[in-house]
Amino acid sequence: MDLRTSYDVVIVGAGHAGAALAIALRQKGFSGSILLIGDEPALPYERPPLSKDYLLGKIGAEHLLIRPAEFWPENKVDLAVRCAVQELDPDRRRVTLSDGRHFSFGWCVLAAGGKVRRLACDGAELGGVHTLRNVSDVEHIRDELDATSQVAVVGAGYIGLEFAAAACELGKRVTVIETQQRVLSRVTSPVISRFVEEEHIRRGVSFHFGQGVRAFRGEGALQEAILDDGTAIPAQMAICGIGIDAETRLAEQAGLACDQGVLVDSCFRTSAPDILAIGDCSRHPNPFADGLWRLESVQHAQDSAATAADAIIGNALPYAQVPTFWSQQYDMRLQSAGLSMAADEIIVRGETGSTPFSAIYTREGKVIGIDAINAPRDFMAARKLIKQGASPDRDSLRDPGIPLRSLT
Ligand code: APR
Repeated sequence: MDLRTSYDVVIVGAGHAGAALAIALRQKGFSGSILLIGDEPALPYERPPLSKDYLLGKIGAEHLLIRPAEFWPENKVDLAVRCAVQELDPDRRRVTLSDGRHFSFGWCVLAAGGKVRRLACDGAELGGVHTLRNVSDVEHIRDELDATSQVAVVGAGYIGLEFAAAACELGKRVTVIETQQRVLSRVTSPVISRFVEEEHIRRGVSFHFGQGVRAFRGEGALQEAILDDGTAIPAQMAICGIGIDAETRLAEQAGLACDQGVLVDSCFRTSAPDILAIGDCSRHPNPFADGLWRLESVQHAQDSAATAADAIIGNALPYAQVPTFWSQQYDMRLQSAGLSMAADEIIVRGETGSTPFSAIYTREGKVIGIDAINAPRDFMAARKLIKQGASPDRDSLRDPGIPLRSLT
């Protein structure tokens, strides 16, 4: 494709947020030129199925695409894949690719996402040790799965547990190693962690809590993971799902304000004029909790992109979406809304030993969050309660016989 040398909007990063921004700009009637730059070989694709249906071979690569290939030229979005941006120069208003090409811009939007954390222990470079973030990661993992009977999963977060569930479905013996004392400790409360852990144990997964991996060992390829306490876990494959960090390299080099993410205001504007940052790489003030937040979710990628698109077309409005997250493990669908870390009370709705059940989080009586397991109606209604800042009485929230939507 012939690219221009100058664009009205240059988007750095062609993941969910970057693609959503280009789509939102066109949907909102923006007629300027747009360049979407991504370093992966694939057209913009969805990540959530990677650790679920795509891993299991239930869907093909074409089902991952955010839009079919023809969408981009039809909507006059120039797409540069396999292209890494090397430098962002805010004063000259231009980006430079690693192959030396320059593009000047009216607006630049950083949608560079997160970089996966890697273990630095001995043997971390052995064949069979993987991270799971990109299509190419999953392709390598899939190639090796047939020859794998035992898997070590490092990190009991979303990625680790989703992989554990998929590997179990494929008949693998799965051991999860987690430095904290429970699963999903970053994102949920003990009552939900306990239920999720039990669902995995019921299907044969073993857990080692309060432990990291001291070393991976094997002759050429992985044979075992050695834990901090010396326990050896036999495994031909290890999946490290120990979180992501914001990709801030370009922003930092350009002198933009960064602190565990590119710092932005409520319209996703960075400290430099006409440069915005959206999605996983940005840290923003959220109307539903104090402080600054770096959120990792499709909802946030999508909605931060829509807010940034409004700012570009001259209709800047502060971000006002309730954060949502989800995970699928076995027949368990976990849907979360709100930022519940500051809760002073957790109300359990339903029986904790079976689904559907939910944990509703309140602060001074106000609903600030929900984790719903196989309870999509509760999730939808609670999202409304959070948005409204509602304070329904505790007994109604607790009683599954009273529909939550009747409290909105
Ligand atoms: N050893 C074992 N466990 C560790 C280690 C370690 N060295 N370091 C961190 N952990 C644990 C954390 O305590 C946490 O429970 O790994 C888990 C990581 O969980 P998340 O932060 O949720 O990260 P991850 O599961 O990798 O997901 C990263 O990708 O698809 C998205 O939604 C997903 O946004 C999330 C991102």
